[in-house]
Amino acid sequence: MAVTILAIESSCDDTSVAVIRDGYILSSLTASQDIHKSYGGVVPELASRAHQANIVPVTDQAIKRAGIRISEINAVAFTRGPGLLGSLLVGTSFAKGFALTCNIPLIEVNHLQAHALVHFIKEKGKEIKVPGFPFLCLLVSGGHTRIILLRSHLEMEVLGNTIDDAAGEAFDKCGKIMGFPYPAGPIIDKLASAGNKKAFVFPKPSVRGLDFSFSGLKTSFLYFLRDRIKDDPDFIEKNESDLCASLQYVIVSILTGRLVKASIQTGINEVGIAGGVSANSELRNAVRAEAEKRSWNLFIPELSYTTDNAAMIGITGYFKYLRGEFSGQEVAPLARF
Ligand code: KG4
Ligand code: ZN
Repeated sequence: MAVTILAIESSCDDTSVAVIRDGYILSSLTASQDIHKSYGGVVPELASRAHQANIVPVTDQAIKRAGIRISEINAVAFTRGPGLLGSLLVGTSFAKGFALTCNIPLIEVNHLQAHALVHFIKEKGKEIKVPGFPFLCLLVSGGHTRIILLRSHLEMEVLGNTIDDAAGEAFDKCGKIMGFPYPAGPIIDKLASAGNKKAFVFPKPSVRGLDFSFSGLKTSFLYFLRDRIKDDPDFIEKNESDLCASLQYVIVSILTGRLVKASIQTGINEVGIAGGVSANSELRNAVRAEAEKRSWNLFIPELSYTTDNAAMIGITGYFKYLRGEFSGQEVAPLARF
């Protein structure tokens, strides 16, 4: 019998709903929230209100586009955390109500595990190769920067973590210093393509093991610009692409360096990247170059699966369904998972 999962993702500022059948995506829809742009970051209260407004229409559309009847859904998977508590609460409550009404099981999903499992989503009519285990995944987003070792779909170990800011935060905060709107990551990526990455040198942190740190980089970027602006008030405008290229270069070198170290330490050659920052063109190129050099079997997600999406919640929910890992109606969201 086919297994059809309705998946709900609402951990931050994207309301996303997907339908997955036997690991194949039937539909995936996301309503993004532009309202946060003018505030320079996600405003939690506004995010929860927007999720409340979006969740029913997005679910309705996802089911229609999948071309299925509600009675064909076998389980509802939802993001339990980590994320913004108010945002998670909307998705969790909706998933619980849906499961209760349809009398089907509820499956809680860890958002970070789901980012890593994005490499297992199948699409009809498309040949995809999936990672073998153990699988090493660099998970880089606005909220997290981790190196994860997956022993199977559902067994994961965190080998390295950021001790302060996430890589996406470094892009966003440095972008804000340059006057860019939130999220600045994609803007920096675009401007960097016309810049010289060796124009300015920013320091790399000295953190032990496989951990990361980005707060020092943000501070040195701020002080560097403050000093240069004293001499030339138009310094940022005149050097925009070089600043973006140099900043991106150091962030990508830090990320790639750690991934290489993890691969050498563990002896694992099945390697991937995931999360919002995995959309970064320099990072994609840098890991491709390392893969070539080190004979990695490399997995880079399609751009639509880099940012938060419900398809990754659905594929994780599918694997949990096969193992019979269900949650009760008492399940509550967790800001930290
Ligand atoms: O995974 P995601 O959508 O949400 C979180 O769970 O955080 O990641 C969003 C982050 C933001 O910090 C954004 O600036 C960054 O991903 N990002 C990028 C790029 N596209 C998105 N950073 C650098 N280059 C990009 N092309
Ligand atoms: Zn995410």
